[in-house]
Amino acid sequence: MTILKKYLAASAAMLALVAGNSFAATDEAIAERIKPYGTVCVAGDECANEVAAAPAAAGGDAAAGGGSEGEALFSAKACVACHSVDNKVVGPAMKEVAAKYAGDADHIAASIKNGSSGNWGPIPMPPNAVNDEEAAALAEWILSLN
Ligand code: HEC
Repeated sequence: MTILKKYLAASAAMLALVAGNSFAATDEAIAERIKPYGTVCVAGDECANEVAAAPAAAGGDAAAGGGSEGEALFSAKACVACHSVDNKVVGPAMKEVAAKYAGDADHIAASIKNGSSGNWGPIPMPPNAVNDEEAAALAEWILSLN
């Protein structure tokens, strides 16, 4: 799987060089930008689980690098379906959450894992498919937005 992905990435880069058209160049630029997160996966894809597992396998290095593990999980775990960093969507903006619970990573992690209701409005958040480590990484990243 990993080898295949590397091959695909290499092919994309080669295509960009050979074709030299703007489409290929854009793909290459995108591939370069998302490199820190490994790869792009659509929820439900086989590779989506690999993305979530990768930072943990790296021994938490990503978390040390400014909370980027939490940021990657925010997309990988589909939080973005209901949240954005700056604006209310279905749920509150992550920056508002960070401000409300400044310093209380445990509360945030518990809400992420178990769901939440009545804190922001009439719509409840269902429990999310995260383990304790992932919930903690997400909470750490959210608080880093303060
Ligand atoms: C189906 C939509 C939905 C998804 C998916 C979702 N949330 Fe939420 N989230 C909400 C809503 C709605 C609220 C407000 C709940 C309330 O009023 O207590 C909320 C609240 C929160 C809160 C504040 C909880 C509190 O104690 O006040 C945090 C933190 C949060 N979400 C993080 C996340 C993270 C991280 C993910 C991804 C793992 C996620 N959410 C996925 C809808 C969602």
